[in-house]
This record gives sequence, structure tokens and C-alpha cells, in this order.
Amino acid sequence: MQYSSLKVLENREVAKNIFKLKLEGKYNVKPGQFFMLRSWEDEPTLSRPFSIYDKGENYISFLYEVKGKGTEKLAKLKCQDTVKVLGPLGNGMDISRIKGKVALVGGGIGIAPLFYFAKKIEAHVDIYFGFRDEVYGIENLKCKNLYISTESGKVGYKGYITDIFNPFDYNLVITCGPLAMMKKVKDVCKKTATPLYLLMESKMACGIGACLVCTCKTKDGMKRVCKDGPVFKGEEVVF
Ligand code: FES
Repeated sequence: MQYSSLKVLENREVAKNIFKLKLEGKYNVKPGQFFMLRSWEDEPTLSRPFSIYDKGENYISFLYEVKGKGTEKLAKLKCQDTVKVLGPLGNGMDISRIKGKVALVGGGIGIAPLFYFAKKIEAHVDIYFGFRDEVYGIENLKCKNLYISTESGKVGYKGYITDIFNPFDYNLVITCGPLAMMKKVKDVCKKTATPLYLLMESKMACGIGACLVCTCKTKDGMKRVCKDGPVFKGEEVVF
């Protein structure tokens, strides 16, 4: 698999240090998959992994947080610039196998891949998204039940999204965000025996399973987030 160059259609700050990057390209992707991106030659050495936030017939888009050299360079991209991308990578989820009522539980920038899940299964999904202060990335979500929390209390419930999430009503829960949040979601799903999938995030180097930079602990030993995941069954991952 080789990197391809895609044209930037949009690169816009949607909240403080959170950008939406839209690239021109036609891809078949599954929710949960990701791409490796770079808009530079040598420095930094590593490309950056980003989950698919949205996809249309002629575009793919990503939501990213600016927090280092790579993302600072991405944030400077203008329309018509080019980005090198490798992907789609990772296992993703087969939407046709998702049945019943689904809850998507996301925290911070972890809401990005869940947005694409929501778009694909909007008829039977409820969304629980938690943010620190500003709310972002939820425009055009059509689902009926959208629950928002902010730690500052600026929008929605004041506190953590896990304070108001109860898996009791759901046939399936999918979560992505900070490890502490996902661990809490896993604990409550265990109590109600609700099936759970975790979208794991990790630093990556190769993105294709060769370097072992991205491993996470599972009950069957260490697994690669980029190749064996990023989607894991809830009972697999050891926190
Ligand atoms: Fe190299 Fe996952 S990033 S094995």
C-alpha cells in the first residue's frame, strides 16, 4: 500500500485547536477505520493517524486536535494544497451486522469516528458526547436523542458523559475517547451485560502492523491497534 496525494477542500478551525480537514477522494471505508496523514517531507518523521470523521461520494474528512508539530503543520493547510494519505487502515466495523438500539458514547476528540457511525446507523442510534467546554463536530447529526455534557457546564449536563449514560436500554454500545471514560463505560456495560465495542486510539508509526508501536493490552496478550483494531470487543481489552 502506498501514500496518495489528495487535494484539500476545506481545513477549518471548528473550536479552539480543533480542526476539520476535508480532502478530495473516493474511498470505500468502514466506520472505525483510519488514515495515516502527512503534509510534510521529513520533519516530523512519523505520519499522524486520524479516524474517518465523515465521507461523501467525493471526499473524506477528519476532525483533529492541534497538539504537536505534525498537527500544527496540518492546521496551516489551505484549499488546493495537497496531503499525503495512506488508507483506509484498520479493521473498522461491518455496519450490516449492527442490529437493535445502539448507543455511541464519545469523549473529546474521540467523538470523531463516532460521528461516521452515527451517520451510517442514524435510524437506531442514541448519542452521548462529552466535552470539556466547547462543543464541536456535531453539525448535521440527524439522530433524535443527542445527549451532551460539558465539564464546565457551558452546554448540556455539567459533568462527565458517563454520569448520565446508562447502557440498560441498548443492544450495543460503541465508545471512543479518553481511556478513563472508556473504562467506565466498560464497567457499566459489564454490569448490564450489554455488548460493547471500544475504538482504541494510540500513537502510531507505520499504521500497517509492522512496527508494534501501537500495541494495547488484551486478555490474549498485546495486540496492534492499527492492524488488529482499532475496533475491539469490550471484553478483549484490559485497562
Ligand atoms: Fe506500526 Fe501499529 S503503528 S504496528
